[in-house]
Amino acid sequence: MKLSRVALYLMAFYFGLTTLLGVSAGGEGIKSTDEPAREIERIYERFADISATMLLSVRNVIAKNQELINRDPETGNYYFKGFVPAIVGSHVANDFSLRTGYKLKQTALKVRNPKNEPDEWEEKALGILEKDKTKKSFGEVTKVGNKDVYRYMKPLYMEKECLMCHSVPEAMPPEIRAYIEKYYTTDEALGYKEGDLRGGISITIPITEWSIP
Ligand code: HEC
Repeated sequence: MKLSRVALYLMAFYFGLTTLLGVSAGGEGIKSTDEPAREIERIYERFADISATMLLSVRNVIAKNQELINRDPETGNYYFKGFVPAIVGSHVANDFSLRTGYKLKQTALKVRNPKNEPDEWEEKALGILEKDKTKKSFGEVTKVGNKDVYRYMKPLYMEKECLMCHSVPEAMPPEIRAYIEKYYTTDEALGYKEGDLRGGISITIPITEWSIP
């Protein structure tokens, strides 16, 4: 009795997962023996993309609401709080990592905060995305230390809302320029135009046993 209930839960989980991921549940899912490695990669790619896109949405909301965050509605005074997409993004990334074990990070080839410097894999991934702007992402199964992981990079392009903080200093609001010059003395993240690759969201997902056929 007990066992069949466990089996039922497992089946429900499997069908739920395959539906969620858009993978056919008709035998081609995680059980595939034809090209198992590729199949695992596709599943991890979906997980990675959903997670990275969620962080991208959080970032965009923060970028679009700088006026609301920094302007006092009663006095009209502007006080730049430094509550920017990347800072909020780092907090969300840390919280998400604690809950899921996925590691999320915002990085770039030229960074404003040295803490966001890319590692070797991230540098390679950003280089590939920089060369080919039509690529929506770059991901692969690789290793971190002796652990198998799936790593993924989703590009972050410069949009209109990013210009106030990442274009030339002369074009930036004075409060923001002063803040950035004060707190980011080694800033390299200036001089970007709309459409430029500004960086990427990097995600590392540990490959767990359940997914290995
Ligand atoms: C209101 C100012 C502001 C806006 C708007 C803004 N950024 Fe940033 N950005 C910053 C600051 C400040 C940092 C450094 C954050 C830190 O300390 O980690 C940063 C860091 C980053 C990083 C991490 C790598 C690095 O350089 O340290 C990326 C990637 C990034 N920004 C991309 C963007 C994109 C893309 C947009 C538009 C959607 C954007 N930013 C909008 C201020 C801003």
